[in-house]
Amino acid sequence: MEPRDQDAAAGPPPARPRYGEAVFRPEEAGEGERIDFGALAYDDVTMARLRALGVGPGWRCLDVGAGTGTVSRRLVEEAGVAGVLAVDRDVRFLAARPVAGLDLLEADVTAPGFDPGRFRLVHARFVLMHLPEPERVVARLAGLVEPGGVLVLSDAVDLTGGTAPGTPYAVAMRAMWRGLRDTIGTDVSWVPSYPALLRAAGLRRVGAEVHVPPLVPGSPISRFWADTWERSRAAMVSTGLVDDAALDGAVRYLESEECAALSAGMLTVWGRR
Ligand SMILES: C[S@@+](CC[C@H](N)C(=O)[O-])C[C@H]1O[C@@H](n2cnc3c(N)ncnc32)[C@H](O)[C@@H]1O
Repeated sequence: MEPRDQDAAAGPPPARPRYGEAVFRPEEAGEGERIDFGALAYDDVTMARLRALGVGPGWRCLDVGAGTGTVSRRLVEEAGVAGVLAVDRDVRFLAARPVAGLDLLEADVTAPGFDPGRFRLVHARFVLMHLPEPERVVARLAGLVEPGGVLVLSDAVDLTGGTAPGTPYAVAMRAMWRGLRDTIGTDVSWVPSYPALLRAAGLRRVGAEVHVPPLVPGSPISRFWADTWERSRAAMVSTGLVDDAALDGAVRYLESEECAALSAGMLTVWGRR
């Protein structure tokens, strides 16, 4: 049999598991709390940027990959927007905390027919870094912004590469990024390109900023990383960069006064249509 025939008989290669499948499964106990720890670390910064961009009364908003919905609800309850459509592949956490003015849509933003309408604000935080072909998703989301509206994207920037000191935290983070990339395709190497991608998608007055939450013992961000490592432990260990003992040591380091390291930052980029 020729090699081509063998390939045809075997069928297409199995699809790579996605976010929420091999890791970060929403049905696993505590996954909503993990997302909330990340939200606690970043929500005030996100809300301040959205308000500075003018988001407020009268705005119809789309929150893509809304998770537990902390930003969606604050848009309604604090910023007084006209309404938020919160989209996620799994809306169980959103449905658990309903709010008037917050509508839910269970959908995959990468699906061919995804077209929820046009919005004055389109927002996605910590979502695109987990998706294949982020440049296509950026273009798709830019197309959902109505004229005069704004696209706001936030994702993680890794500060543990290159010459960063090899603290137990940094070693664990390197294993985490590699393990997530190998398992579900998470890729933060794109994130510094977002300003250029928004401009290429036709948006104007593109701006960007980075926030790095302090990594101090007991902080929401420290608890977020410890919990994230626990849930991706198998993927991290399979990289060969850490073993279970190193990972346990990194968690103890995070919780100790010895901890002196930079958390991953959050890059927020925006542009107007
Ligand atoms: C890391 S969480 C971020 C949640 C929230 N945006 C936040 O910052 O707190 C990523 C979210 O994106 C959702 N998600 C992942 N892939 C998605 C897709 N293809 N379409 C829609 N939502 C997706 C996940 O279900 C999860 O709720």
